[in-house]
Amino acid sequence: MRYAILYIAILGFWGCQSNANLDSQDPLAEAVEHPVFDEHIEPIIVANCSPCHRENGGAPFVFKSYEQIKKKQKTLLKVVVDRIMPPWPADVHYSSFIDEKRLTDAQIKTIQNWVKDGCPSGKNPNALLNKVTPFESTLGKPDLVLYLDSVSLPQGSEDRFFLMTAPGLLPQKKYIKAVELVPGQPNLMHHFNGHWINYEFDSRKNFSLKPRKVELTPGKGDRSTSTLDLLADNGQIPDRKHSVVNYLPGVFGVMYPDGIGTFEAERKFIIVGNDVHYGPSRKSVTDRSKINIFFTDVPPKRGTGELMLGTNGVSKIEPPLVIPPNKITKHTTSFTVPADISILTLNPHLHLLGKSFKAYAIKPNGDTINLIWIPKWDFRWQYFYTFKKMVKIPRGSTITAEAVFDNTTANPNNPNRPPITVSERMDYFGSSMKASDEMFQFIITYLGYEPGDENRSLEVPKKIEIPKK
Ligand code: HEC
Repeated sequence: MRYAILYIAILGFWGCQSNANLDSQDPLAEAVEHPVFDEHIEPIIVANCSPCHRENGGAPFVFKSYEQIKKKQKTLLKVVVDRIMPPWPADVHYSSFIDEKRLTDAQIKTIQNWVKDGCPSGKNPNALLNKVTPFESTLGKPDLVLYLDSVSLPQGSEDRFFLMTAPGLLPQKKYIKAVELVPGQPNLMHHFNGHWINYEFDSRKNFSLKPRKVELTPGKGDRSTSTLDLLADNGQIPDRKHSVVNYLPGVFGVMYPDGIGTFEAERKFIIVGNDVHYGPSRKSVTDRSKINIFFTDVPPKRGTGELMLGTNGVSKIEPPLVIPPNKITKHTTSFTVPADISILTLNPHLHLLGKSFKAYAIKPNGDTINLIWIPKWDFRWQYFYTFKKMVKIPRGSTITAEAVFDNTTANPNNPNRPPITVSERMDYFGSSMKASDEMFQFIITYLGYEPGDENRSLEVPKKIEIPKK
């Protein structure tokens, strides 16, 4: 039996879920026959679209006013009816998660009726839209904000990779509940994975709060950390917690109920972004991303573990991830869990050739537990999917992930015209892979099982304010 699952059972926890949004959605509510903008449409937009379509929210335009939305009515109706927006690639009939970004059938019908009636405004349009503030966080008001060093990305720049640090100093030790990355350039930041390094107070006399960075050259073993000034005064490598923050395109932060995944921070600490990836830039911009930190008074009760299947993970990909040109290929990866676990969050990860992704567990008695199905993979939406309640996977169950890749010209995201052979790049030390290389990963955040977990809710009260009338 392999105990790999236990060796990665470190106290990391993933970013943070919960977001501004869909909680106003009563599935039993009926469509409004003759809706008006201020009363019926604006609240739907503010709750379900504005989380992204606002200043710095990552979407290409801001929903600003009744007049503008009326002008966009055709595209708006199309993306809503086709369920392209809000983006939620997981099949909700296969498994369901917290904060599904999805309109109800009644909401869609209401928007259809509004457009059919000629988009009546109501008496007081824009009151709610005017209250929408620029994007700051998907989790609420942070207790501490740290800034990363700025990175200038000239026009036409290719993929770039960095190691980056954000040092912090606290007045006293604190329990950390969640850490969230907020990219300054959400369209260019492709990946951020951060570890937390704690320094016992006496172990670093000189402690600079200046953020640092080192640019990495893919394929070169230049992951030298000396310039980042991370070691303790005695030259030792300090204690670190892995993956306390993760960002991928479209990600919303994850926050668990009190006591789960919480960890203790020393007064002096550094967050290290160990694989900060910017995609190619079409215009010259400067990124200055920030890290939001959330404290709690509730001490850690249960540490989360992280199980990674596929690329660089505990399980082999079969057949190996080599995708010939003009082919659609299917690959699987499986892992048998050596102990009872409770799954909290899933994160499927593929790159641009991804076509679909499915994962499930087969229990020793042959029953299947659905985990996630993404029938149409979209590189832009790589959420961390947190279950509404913990999902127990009994010892001896086999978790399988299946991914289909499309390396034909019919795939509009195919970066190669004509297509060429694409594969994983293990020579990059497993990280720093370009978007045009492929990956097949399935990352599971879990706890060791405790009786009653299957009834334990993972929903936390929203700290985001959605403007309401
Ligand atoms: C999770 C973030 C997010 C949410 C929530 C969201 N959008 Fe978007 N939206 C985006 C992004 C990012 C794009 C740009 C997509 C792209 O890269 O093609 C976009 C694009 C669009 C477009 C342009 C599509 C096109 O074909 O040009 C429309 C229209 C749109 N969104 C409407 C909406 C509406 C209406 C809602 C709410 C019902 C909504 N969006 C919710 C992020 C979001």
